[in-house]
Amino acid sequence: MHLHHHPPPITTATGAAITTPYILLATTVFFFLLVLSFTISPSSPPPPTQPHPSLFPHHHRFLFHNPNTTQNQNTPSAAPPLPPTPPSIAYLISGSANDSDRIIRLLYSIYHPRNQYLLNLDRAAPQADRDTLAIRVQSVPLFRAAQNVHVIGKADYVFSAGPSSLSSTLHGASIMLRVAADWDWFINLSANDYPLVTQDDLLHILSYLPKDLNFVNHTSYIGWRESRKLKPIIVDPALYLAENSETFYATEKRQLPDAFRLFTGSSSAILTRKFVEFCVLGVDNLPRTLLMYLSNTPASNLVYFPTILCNSRQFNRTTINHSLQYVSYDSRQEPLQLNSSTFDDLIQSGAAFASPFLPHDSVLDRIDREVLERKPGKPVPGGWCLGESENEKCSVWGDADVLKPGPGAKRLEKRLVELLSKETVRSRQCVDE
Ligand SMILES: *[C@@H]1O[C@H](CO)[C@@H](O)[C@H](O)[C@H]1NC(C)=O
Ligand SMILES: *[C@@H]1O[C@H](CO)[C@@H](O)[C@H](O)[C@H]1NC(C)=O
Ligand SMILES: *[C@@H]1O[C@H](CO)[C@@H](O)[C@H](O)[C@H]1NC(C)=O
Ligand SMILES: *[C@@H]1O[C@H](CO)[C@@H](O)[C@H](O)[C@H]1NC(C)=O
Ligand SMILES: *[C@@H]1O[C@H](CO)[C@@H](O)[C@H](O)[C@H]1NC(C)=O
Ligand SMILES: *[C@@H]1O[C@H](CO)[C@@H](O)[C@H](O)[C@H]1NC(C)=O
Ligand SMILES: *[C@@H]1O[C@H](CO)[C@@H](O)[C@H](O)[C@H]1NC(C)=O
Repeated sequence: MHLHHHPPPITTATGAAITTPYILLATTVFFFLLVLSFTISPSSPPPPTQPHPSLFPHHHRFLFHNPNTTQNQNTPSAAPPLPPTPPSIAYLISGSANDSDRIIRLLYSIYHPRNQYLLNLDRAAPQADRDTLAIRVQSVPLFRAAQNVHVIGKADYVFSAGPSSLSSTLHGASIMLRVAADWDWFINLSANDYPLVTQDDLLHILSYLPKDLNFVNHTSYIGWRESRKLKPIIVDPALYLAENSETFYATEKRQLPDAFRLFTGSSSAILTRKFVEFCVLGVDNLPRTLLMYLSNTPASNLVYFPTILCNSRQFNRTTINHSLQYVSYDSRQEPLQLNSSTFDDLIQSGAAFASPFLPHDSVLDRIDREVLERKPGKPVPGGWCLGESENEKCSVWGDADVLKPGPGAKRLEKRLVELLSKETVRSRQCVDE
């Protein structure tokens, strides 16, 4: 194991910024950082072009070649089989005005050096918030070293649940495809969400699953409630007006489509890279057709992914009917705020995430303490954290491929076994109900 005592030489603040296509960063921040790097660079080494070797020793196999280990891996031996290489998750975290603190907190609570993160503040937040967020991210040595946190520099308007929200998610997904080559699953979170397991738990469990499984609640049952959401025709002003204004409802309603079968579900989902490519690259026309159809539909974000998954031959057998996110609804199908009185339900649900929480709710502190063992302003200590002192565990970096799953992995495993056994019976088809 390669130990490294941080902090690494503070080279420049541009580590991640330069490798990230610069369109992602606010131009102001970019120029600020550029100036910074010019002023510092004569006396310091060039910014890293590779993530830090302590975190990713295997990326440097050729530099630190150890013939003994190589041999052991090739010859069958009595040693226990190596665990599968952990996967990598691409997280899109979206928020709005005044959400920067929650976004940073959520980022720490789901941080793992193997993952990729894209932070997006919509246009209701002032540009200054976006710039500050980028600078805050750049000022964390860990994020600079792993080069895996990116900030969208230019914002669009988003009205939650409208077509603009779907468009923003697809935008985030396509940036993810560009900035990071090797992630396996895409997860779309908002500042209202929080994890219920550690990333070591989640990556550990996912590493034993086929990489072609998509997780999203879906049903083809369209009752009166769903019809009420799907038949109205709306115009989402966020798609074409530069100022925030009311969604416009037409008096006419339209029929449900019959060119494809509509499925509705949850806006949260865990999607495979292959499926995200299918939606974003649009080689097949369904993702684009559906996007246009949904541009005038209020609940488009509940419909888009389930409908594409279930209407395409490549994916209709890959969908698990649960997004692994805990949401509790009232009698009017509105999500209930989660708080300390729901803590036990949250944990027993075996879900990986829950939503929605109020900012700084005390139940988040309890999750940090009892579930994630996370200290304020620090990442969740995982197998890659080698520090001795309780408070500085993650300031000494070890191999990011080493996971230390805890009780959260057991809960998640139990939940998945239930889901998979149910799904096998239906051979993972998107059943017509
Ligand atoms: C490899 O193994 C040999 C003997 O088995 C040992 O002498 C040597 O130190 C080992 N090298 C490394 C780099 O571990
Ligand atoms: C953000 O916070 C400021 C000050 O606390 C407040 O005046 C403003 O209304 C908030 N904006 C939103 C969109 O909540
Ligand atoms: C998915 O689960 C929901 C809720 O448990 C259920 O109503 C729905 O019928 C399921 N969908 C399919 C395709 O089995
Ligand atoms: C992505 O997540 C945000 C926040 O939870 C949500 O508002 C949005 O609808 C989601 N997008 C899609 C396409 O599901
Ligand atoms: C799913 O795909 C299979 C072929 O892979 C096809 O026979 C079946 O009709 C499809 N089901 C749906 C609901 O599209
Ligand atoms: C998904 O469906 C399950 C029941 O099958 C439910 O408990 C959960 O709250 C749903 N998730 C979302 C995000 O709606
Ligand atoms: C938690 O939220 C529920 C409704 O979402 C509310 O009835 C309950 O009083 C809240 N509990 C606390 C401790 O705030």
